[in-house]
Amino acid sequence: MDSIRIQGGRRLVGKIPISGAKNATLPLMIASLLTPETLTLKNVPQLADVQLLKRILGNHGVDYAVRGKRFAKEMPAGETLELSAHQIVDTTAPYELVSRMRASFWVIGPLIARMGEARVSLPGGCAIGTRPVDFYLQGLEALGAEIAVEGGYVIAKAPRGLIGARVVFPRVSVGATHTILMAAALAKGESVIENAAREPEVADLAECLVKMGARIEGAGTGKIHVQGVGALHAAEHSVLPDRIETGTYAMAVAATGGEVTLCGGRPDLLRAALDTLGEAGIDVTETNEGIRVARNGGPLRPVTVATEPFPGFPTDLQAQLMALMSRADGTSEITETIFENRFMHVQELSRLGADIRLDGQTATIRGVEKLTGAQVMATDLRASVSLVIGGLAAEGETVVNRVYHLDRGFERLEEKLSACGAEIERLRA
Ligand code: EPZ
Repeated sequence: MDSIRIQGGRRLVGKIPISGAKNATLPLMIASLLTPETLTLKNVPQLADVQLLKRILGNHGVDYAVRGKRFAKEMPAGETLELSAHQIVDTTAPYELVSRMRASFWVIGPLIARMGEARVSLPGGCAIGTRPVDFYLQGLEALGAEIAVEGGYVIAKAPRGLIGARVVFPRVSVGATHTILMAAALAKGESVIENAAREPEVADLAECLVKMGARIEGAGTGKIHVQGVGALHAAEHSVLPDRIETGTYAMAVAATGGEVTLCGGRPDLLRAALDTLGEAGIDVTETNEGIRVARNGGPLRPVTVATEPFPGFPTDLQAQLMALMSRADGTSEITETIFENRFMHVQELSRLGADIRLDGQTATIRGVEKLTGAQVMATDLRASVSLVIGGLAAEGETVVNRVYHLDRGFERLEEKLSACGAEIERLRA
C-alpha cells in the first residue's frame, strides 16, 4: 500500500488549482441513471471514488466515455465524462460494490423513479459513525414506494411509478436530499422536500437536473419544490469547485505559513471556514483567480468551532482545523455535531505531538510550540489529509500510511503541494 513521506517545515508559496468537487460529482454521475440520453459532465476530478462509481454505474448498464484535456499546471481543467444510461440492464446494486462507497446507495432514487424497482445493498457501517439510511427509506415510502429490507438489501418497488408528496427530514441529510430530489424529479405531481440539505452540492445537482428538464425550485434552501416530469433528457453540466479541497489547502497554508492562491476556489462555498481562518489571524482575500490565503509570521489564534450543516462550518474540514489548531497560541475547542465518531485523527495527531483531549463530541486542543514528524496511519479521507497538514507543519519526517483514503478525494495532492514548495513524495508499495 502506498504511503506519503513529508519533510515538514517548508512554507507554502504559489498557486494551487482547485478541482471539481468530489461530493458534487458523485450525485451528478448517479443522475445519469434518470435518462436514456447522454449526460455530459465537465470538470470531473480524477479520483478513486469517481473510478469506482463508473464501475458501479456500468453494472446498471451505463456506458461512459472520458473526453477532453486533463490537468493543467496553473488552472483546474478536469475531465469531461459522458454517461449514457440508454438501457438499464440491472436494477440491483450489489453488496460488493455498495460496501466500498456509501454514496452508491443513492442509485436507489433514480432506479426506482425510472424503472419502478431497485434492489440496493445496505451500505453498512463506516469509520466515522453508524450512518443509517432511515431518512432515505421514509422519503421513498412517502413517494409511494413499497420498501422491504431482506438479506442486507433494500428492495424498493413502485410498479405504477412514484407519486409526488411532502417529505420532511427529521434532520439534515445531504445524501437523503440528493436521493429524494432525483426520485421526485420523475414522480407524478408535486413534491416538497422540507428540512432539505442546503449544501452547494445539492444546488449543483438541482441545477444539472433542471438542465435535464426537471422542474425544481428552492434548491440550496431548506425547502425544495419539485414538479415531476415524464422524462428527462440530455444535458451538459460543469461540476462546481471542491470547497473541502479549497478549505484543506487554506488550512495547510495557515499551518505552514506562506502565501498561496487557490485558483478557481469560490469563497461563497466555504464562508464559515474562511471566517474561522480570519479569526485565527490568517489573511484571506478574494482575487480574480480565486482565494488568496496568507500567513506571514503572525500568531495563530485559537478558535472555538462546532460543525454544522451548510452554511455552518463543515464536518469535512473538522480534522484539518484540528491539525491547524494543534499549533495555535492557546486552547481551541472543536465540537463535532454531524457524525458521532469522527475523531479517529486525534490519536494520530497526538503521535505528531499534538495535545488534544476528547470529551464526548468536543475536542480541546492546547496549542503546542512544535509538532514532530512521525509514522501515522489514517482511517478516513479527511483524517488522512489532516495528518498531511500536521506533517507539513511538523519538524522532521512524517510518513502517512494507508494513503488510498487520500486518493478517494484529493486529486494529485502531492503534485499540488510540491508545486508550492512542500517536500512531499509518494512511496509506492
Ligand atoms: C455527505 O455524506 C458527504 N458525502 C460527507 O462527506 C459529509 O461529511 C456529509 O454529507 C455531511 O456533510 C458525500 O457527499 C459523498 P448525511 P452523507 O446524510 O450524505 C444522519 C467526505 O469525507 N443520517 O448528511 O452520507 C447521519 O448518520 C464525506 O467526503 C441518519 O441518521 O451524510 C449523520 O449523522 C464523509 N439517517 C447525519 O445524518 C439517514 O437516513 C448527516 O449525514 C441519513 C443520515
